[in-house]
Amino acid sequence: MLSDQFGRKVNYLRVSVTDRCNLRCRYCIPQDGVSLKKHEDLLSFEEIETIVRAGVELGINKVRLTGGEPLLRKGFPALVKKLAAIEGLKDLALTTNGILLGPMASELKEAGIKRVNVSLDTLRPERFHQMTGSDHWQQAKEGFEKALTAGFEQVKLNVVAIAGYNDDEVEDFIKYAMDKPIQLRFIEFMPVGNKFWEKGKQLISKELIERISTTTTIVSLPPLKNSITEEYQIVGSPATLGFISPLSHSFCRSCNRLRLTADGFLKPCLASKYEVNIKVPVRAGHAGNELRRVFYEAMRLKPKAHKMDQGYSDNTRHMAEVGG
Ligand code: GTP
Ligand code: 5AD
Ligand code: SF4
Repeated sequence: MLSDQFGRKVNYLRVSVTDRCNLRCRYCIPQDGVSLKKHEDLLSFEEIETIVRAGVELGINKVRLTGGEPLLRKGFPALVKKLAAIEGLKDLALTTNGILLGPMASELKEAGIKRVNVSLDTLRPERFHQMTGSDHWQQAKEGFEKALTAGFEQVKLNVVAIAGYNDDEVEDFIKYAMDKPIQLRFIEFMPVGNKFWEKGKQLISKELIERISTTTTIVSLPPLKNSITEEYQIVGSPATLGFISPLSHSFCRSCNRLRLTADGFLKPCLASKYEVNIKVPVRAGHAGNELRRVFYEAMRLKPKAHKMDQGYSDNTRHMAEVGG
């Protein structure tokens, strides 16, 4: 089992498979452009598999594939198949912006993805364009809806809540979710790797919950182990509401995760600059013990908590490189 100096146990690895994205969300990607990694700098599928296998031997049993936009990585379903075949990996999940999801959803389900989280921050195409620079809102929404019929065990809709951007759509999102078996999640906007964040753009979950309660009957659900989400049932609906509150209610104390960047670094914390190179040992043909040592080093560097509530993160990468 991987445990750190604060007694936290890690069983969840978030694997970014590419730093590329087909959106340019203002809160995620610096607007003055980013330098993208060369293909040869990215881990190959075989290398990712080797690292995940080493992690599973150390107690990782949940992997979430992220990006950039993971579905942009050529041959992505083949990676899913490789990882799904790893004995001991109980949960294989995906976070995507949905644009390429529609035509791929069934194939990904067949390949072994169990759960899908789709990020869609607005139900208004013109707003989507303004925030992301893309005209593909319809495609993203259809991708999300296709996920609902593809047979995944769970589908969630991620909405980063930003004051002055989508705060007037909270009720529209609830209306949209009302007849769907999903978790609709509102995420507090974090100051990670972007200059777009300002305190005034923050929407605090507690205030959202109070506001929603005035128009919708919701009932608090018991927390799941290590979940970063506070969950509510919408009464009379198959949908639940989730609130992710990294700023107002830091969940670092029960953090159970490590990250693997597309270019081969283990990151012990989303909001920290610390990373450990695992690409070099993997490319040198190391496995087993040598790789385990890299995991232990990442665990040693895992900080106690972030300082994002002070508007601060010393992560030097932009969000699309880390995968959220
Ligand atoms: P589930 O398996 O469904 O619980 O997924 P998840 O919530 O771990 O993953 P997802 O990719 O949907 O992330 C949702 C939001 O949580 C995003 O805004 C992420 O940036 C944020 N998030 C995920 N992990 C962490 C973390 O360790 N720390 C912080 N501060 N935020 C995180
Ligand atoms: N704050 C909160 N969530 C963010 N995401 C990207 N940038 C931020 C941020 N600054 C979300 C994406 C996606 C998930 C992986 O991370 O919208 O849902
Ligand atoms: Fe874990 Fe860092 Fe996220 Fe806190 S900010 S929950 S320590 S990854």
